[in-house]
Amino acid sequence: MLEASAVRPVVRVRDLWVEYSPASGLFGRRKILALRGVSFEVAEGETYGVVGASGSGKSTLLKAIMGFVKPTGGTVEIDGVDLYGVDGGTRRGIVRRIGYVSQNPLAAVDPRYRVRDIVAEPLRASGVSKREIDRVLSALLEMVDLDPGVMDLLPHELSLGMLQRVVIARAIAAKPRVLLLDEPTSALDSITQSHIVSLLGGLRDLFGYTSILVSHDLRVVARLASRLAIMMAGLMLEEGPTSSVLEKPLHPYARELVESLKLKEVGEVFTVNPNACPFYTRCSQRLDGRCREVPPLAEIGGARRVRCWLYT
Ligand SMILES: Nc1ncnc2c1ncn2[C@@H]1O[C@H](COP(=O)(O)OP(=O)(O)OP(=O)(O)O)[C@@H](O)[C@H]1O
Ligand code: SF4
Ligand SMILES: [Mg+2]
Repeated sequence: MLEASAVRPVVRVRDLWVEYSPASGLFGRRKILALRGVSFEVAEGETYGVVGASGSGKSTLLKAIMGFVKPTGGTVEIDGVDLYGVDGGTRRGIVRRIGYVSQNPLAAVDPRYRVRDIVAEPLRASGVSKREIDRVLSALLEMVDLDPGVMDLLPHELSLGMLQRVVIARAIAAKPRVLLLDEPTSALDSITQSHIVSLLGGLRDLFGYTSILVSHDLRVVARLASRLAIMMAGLMLEEGPTSSVLEKPLHPYARELVESLKLKEVGEVFTVNPNACPFYTRCSQRLDGRCREVPPLAEIGGARRVRCWLYT
């Protein structure tokens, strides 16, 4: 899967490590390994899903791709350019072409800005003329199913669902090369969630975006992503085409997730030993000696990869 394919992927993440060093606390300075050697590729027009419980490293992965968090190891390439191998100006130019939609639309906007200024922000930043901005604003709002009448409203005058549509309009305004979606529906009620998932699916079909969607909710990822990865404790545990992972999940954690598809959230798993398989404490199939070591992510055919000693 990760071998060079005939067509260059739009996003290529290789052996990505991110370590946080929070300020010293009561128990001294404790380093947090948020990503441990994550590798994957996203092809042109593909939606790649990442599912995992809270703290598994999903947002860190997107932040590293946005250049917000500097990796401690590995590379992030966009269209073959290593984001951390170029100067700051070049990196900012690449990042400007990445659209970002976060979990909390309220935190994503400046409460003093009106909708027109929020959506126009990336257009202004890329030097689009005022006349052109006025022309495209209504079209952008229409695309996200908002009445152009909202243009002069402030964020607090909109519902959360409407505000998330505004954030999506801003993310697509500058015709991004890559769209990163960080739990775009988790702050919303279930009906609004469903509308936003349909909207994202419609926009993907219209523009053919290359996107990465992260979520706690396997159902959201299953509706939009053609391939997905399952993460825990900064490690990728399984990856494959969505249909084949849903049909036949291999990793014991993936099996649990698929079986509990009805549950909204992926249950938290606490890892005691960072050297052991992260599912060790909950796995009914653990092999006492072997599973005390982290297994490698093995390619097992059918474009599938799985990190479990049962397959290695
Ligand atoms: N700025 C930071 N400083 C220190 N630790 C951090 C920081 N940001 C994240 N972490 C830690 O890194 C790990 C991964 O966090 P991350 O936010 O990437 O997880 P997540 O999968 O997005 O979780 P959630 O579903 O809750 O959003 C967690 O243990 C988290 O506490
Ligand atoms: S490596 Fe061992 S503990 Fe981990 S999921 Fe596989 S069988 Fe279970
Ligand atoms: Mg997160």
